[in-house]
Amino acid sequence: MPNSTKASTTLVNRRFSVAPMMDWTDRYCRYFHRLLSRNTLLYTEMVTTGALIHGDVHRHLHYHDIEHPIALQLGGSDPKALAQSVQIANKYQYDEINLNCGCPSDRVQSGKFGAVLMKDPELVAQCFSAMQNATETPITIKHRIGVDEQEGYQSLCDFVGTIAKAGCKTFIVHARKAWLQGLSPKQNRDVPPLQYEQVFQLKRDFPQLEIIINGGINSLEQTETLLSSVDGVMMGREAYQNPYILAEVDQKIYHDQQPIPSRLQVLEQFSEIIEKELSKGIKLSHMTRHILGLYQGVPGARKFRRHISENAHRHDAGIEVLFQALNDMNTSYTQRDF
Ligand SMILES: Cc1cc2nc3c(=O)[nH]c(=O)nc-3n(C[C@H](O)[C@H](O)[C@H](O)COP(=O)(O)O)c2cc1C
Repeated sequence: MPNSTKASTTLVNRRFSVAPMMDWTDRYCRYFHRLLSRNTLLYTEMVTTGALIHGDVHRHLHYHDIEHPIALQLGGSDPKALAQSVQIANKYQYDEINLNCGCPSDRVQSGKFGAVLMKDPELVAQCFSAMQNATETPITIKHRIGVDEQEGYQSLCDFVGTIAKAGCKTFIVHARKAWLQGLSPKQNRDVPPLQYEQVFQLKRDFPQLEIIINGGINSLEQTETLLSSVDGVMMGREAYQNPYILAEVDQKIYHDQQPIPSRLQVLEQFSEIIEKELSKGIKLSHMTRHILGLYQGVPGARKFRRHISENAHRHDAGIEVLFQALNDMNTSYTQRDF
């Protein structure tokens, strides 16, 4: 497919995405999210260049066809290793490949990638070029508004400007700074204040770029409001903890008139993959941990959650744990109802 067609297809998809989240957005999570929304762009967990070059490629990169549109997030800072990783990933046909310049964990800093890269925009531009030269798939950058002593808008503007000059068209901006010393990764997602205005300013200064905002977004009403200032919204924790929010994304954000799936319809479809994977020896809890928040806000949600949390990890746990969780909510479900 020519690059321009590819870019315009994904531009539509990037209006709404679920953030890359280590240990959370694995292939079962993405499969489940896809049953809730056909259009939302889904990100993998971060995969490091070392893991791809020296590890089990198929384990890290394979996914189910249903997951499209899907973006792979890479972590690294060596242009050659990143280009090699992109080449390895090419055969898996991701819709986008993203470079992580926003993660502040110690492990990531010692490898000199993640948020620390915000201090070296020239290196990120080299990484971008090496990656983009290795593929026709759009390469995007996810970053913070700054790190450590970087104050104000100028360093952010210089960072984006330098990488845009190398040809990058899409920037996903987590609208808070990261402190590389003194705050844990979790604190770095909550403590530094959100500064959406800096992201809006980027869009005004670089109208030709696609600017996606991320951080603290927890409703589709807020999403719609933000879309009047930027090109797309990325949602992380809210989508994971309250996944049924995704069920309205197609209608509200993409104006797709397909009916909204019920929670039960989603579970019915998810149970099909669960049964297949159980037969391959995958543990039930690996899959059901992602659905614990499905009934958030609905009477009986705690019973549903508790039954799955207490039972799905047992070595012989099967699909009946899911039916029993539904029964615990005072609704009589049997396999036939599915
Ligand atoms: C458990 C967890 C793991 C995360 N892992 C990654 C990651 O691998 N790569 C990345 O760029 N961001 C990662 N993030 C950050 C999210 O992508 C997102 O930027 C952040 O949570 C802010 O968005 P939110 O307020 O909507 O959650 C992670 C966040 C969480 C909660």
